[in-house]
Amino acid sequence: MKAVEFTQMKDGTREEYLFLDELENGYALELPERIMAALRGLEHTLSGYRVSRLDHSLQAASRAFDDGADEEMIVAALIHDIGDELAPYNHSQYAAAVIRPYVRPEVTWVINMHGVFQYHYYLHHLGGDHTQREKYRDHPWYQSCVDFCEKYDQASFDPEYPSRTLEFFEPMVKRIFTRKPFDSSHMGAEVMAEDGIDARNI
Ligand SMILES: [Fe+2]
Ligand SMILES: [Fe+2]
Repeated sequence: MKAVEFTQMKDGTREEYLFLDELENGYALELPERIMAALRGLEHTLSGYRVSRLDHSLQAASRAFDDGADEEMIVAALIHDIGDELAPYNHSQYAAAVIRPYVRPEVTWVINMHGVFQYHYYLHHLGGDHTQREKYRDHPWYQSCVDFCEKYDQASFDPEYPSRTLEFFEPMVKRIFTRKPFDSSHMGAEVMAEDGIDARNI
């Protein structure tokens, strides 16, 4: 079979769906290459800073690496602004959705919330409420997000910082994004149950 016969999904056969499922699994294995391409695309987004968005991302990931952060957090720092191009008003949620199946929930939460936590540094200059993150002060991962922003994100606009190259991070990107998605070994069975995710159905 080269392609399915159906023109409406409701007419597809089991064989056709098995065929598509196999292709989809193969496509998913190429995710690391697409992540790398999306990162390279950050070279041309958001002007006005002293570093490109790609440089900012490499610097954030390098700072995480130098800080001794684990690989999930390093890769999260690398891709945290990957949504700038297509989701300018919810780029945090975009990146969180991309990484969520592959890392522990804490890392997803930090990426999901980093935009709000970053307000702390500038929103008052624009007449907004820069204290919004205080709503989450009692959250178990509050400090983790504070630290991520302070040490990796807000600090990474320095053109002099000796960042690693994108190639340096490529093996880490490969390892994280070829993990079994939504696997309890990294997501935690409890959280998956709370989220209504059933690994047996994936
Ligand atoms: Fe961001
Ligand atoms: Fe950032």
